[in-house]
Amino acid sequence: MLVCSGHLDLVLSRTEEADRANGGRCRDNELTRKQGAHVSAGYEPIETSSVDELRDLQLKRLRWSLDHAYRNVDHYRRAFDAAGVSPSDVSSLDDLASFPFLMKDDLRAEYPFGMFAVPRSEVVRIHASSGTTGKPTVVGYTADDVATWAELVARSMYAAGVRSGDIVHNAYGYGLFTGGLGAHYGAEALGCTVVPMSGGQTEKQVNLINDFEPRVIMVTPSYCLNLIDEMERLGMDPASCSLEIGMFGAEPWTDGLRAEIERRLGIDAVDLYGLSEVMGPGVASECVETKDGPTIWEDHFYPEIIDPETGEVLPDGEQGELVFTSLTKQAFPVVRYRTRDITRLLPGTARTMRRMERISGRTDDMLIIRGVNVFPSQIEAEVMKVDGLSPHFVLEISRTHNMLGLTIKVEPEPGASTDGLAAELIHKVKGNVGINAQVVVADIGGVPRSQGKAIRVIRT
Ligand code: DLL
Repeated sequence: MLVCSGHLDLVLSRTEEADRANGGRCRDNELTRKQGAHVSAGYEPIETSSVDELRDLQLKRLRWSLDHAYRNVDHYRRAFDAAGVSPSDVSSLDDLASFPFLMKDDLRAEYPFGMFAVPRSEVVRIHASSGTTGKPTVVGYTADDVATWAELVARSMYAAGVRSGDIVHNAYGYGLFTGGLGAHYGAEALGCTVVPMSGGQTEKQVNLINDFEPRVIMVTPSYCLNLIDEMERLGMDPASCSLEIGMFGAEPWTDGLRAEIERRLGIDAVDLYGLSEVMGPGVASECVETKDGPTIWEDHFYPEIIDPETGEVLPDGEQGELVFTSLTKQAFPVVRYRTRDITRLLPGTARTMRRMERISGRTDDMLIIRGVNVFPSQIEAEVMKVDGLSPHFVLEISRTHNMLGLTIKVEPEPGASTDGLAAELIHKVKGNVGINAQVVVADIGGVPRSQGKAIRVIRT
């Protein structure tokens, strides 16, 4: 396998950019508040460059990345040749639309290392996504890739209001999952003190938060709820703990849940997005001053939205499946990777780069209940509107006479009267989601607690 000649250019131009960026970087520790920070400048100048400058950089990098993939990965060579496209034909970003998609099954077919674009000996890190069926998807990183990833997580953290010197409690799982190590390296790159807690040992986590007084927590939203409940169980007041900022991701969550976490923990809660195939956490992240959906770090990942049925590229603002092409990755370039995540591209606000709307769900998590498409996050939104219900819920799907039936099993808030709760949720789900669901108000503790990514759907 050959490493393409553009590789060196890219590394050099990155170094130049890094030098430039260092000059403009604010690593100050001018600290702020418990809630409501206003951070205007980004971590790196490119975040607030002109759109033209950004598009020029993207085109240059896109051409490099397509060429790199074509020359060094058999799968891309076969797929591009079969589609009759060549990286050398690309003269605008729109030309990307003629390239074939990369699907999860393509990655599985190349298990374990067939998609690597550099010799295996240059791969310094492996991660893998668990995958509910079959073999995991393996991804690899060169030392440069790990450094870029750390810088992008640092950029994401900076956008969330995290600063050098902060203590970061990292409760994303360590291991093959990208959450733990991804957040860890980013926090170190920003100059933070990391507590590498991982998931689980909930009581110990709470005690360490009490003792170490971190300003920042990085955790899935569902496990954060578990931690808040544990603080209350231990007689603590979560809102008066040291935490000021939370960076939540790895699973869908709603604005209702954001409000609940912010209220109970007294923090700013921002949305951190990513996926292992594209890098890990830090592909996109929300700016604390706007909290209006993650900004996609478009200088490294080129986004498209497609119609999941036809594959047609949709204009910005329309909802569809998110597709990513990596612009700088060395070991594991992805060209038009279909994420299965459903969202829309929105114009930049706090940054030049476009934002994505909060993910409503994944195409493979979508339930079709009597002809109506439903994502678990839509049910979460309704649960959060009912006073007296907690955010702990699970959807039980049963099949009778070839029809799917949905039962929402949900816990009440501790101490709340359960009278009328089920009827109110049934009414809201019927009115706002358009389906008839059964609701079971479970005992406290009756819904399994998340240790990382929540399991929202159980098929009985
Ligand atoms: O979950 C990476 C990550 C770790 C992101 C920590 C954020 C924080 P995977 O295990 O490969 O990687 O799962 C990726 O999780 O395609 C989405 O469906 C979902 N996901 C990730 N972040 C969000 C988010 C990590 N902020 C899959 N909102 C993605 C909604 C998310 N869904």
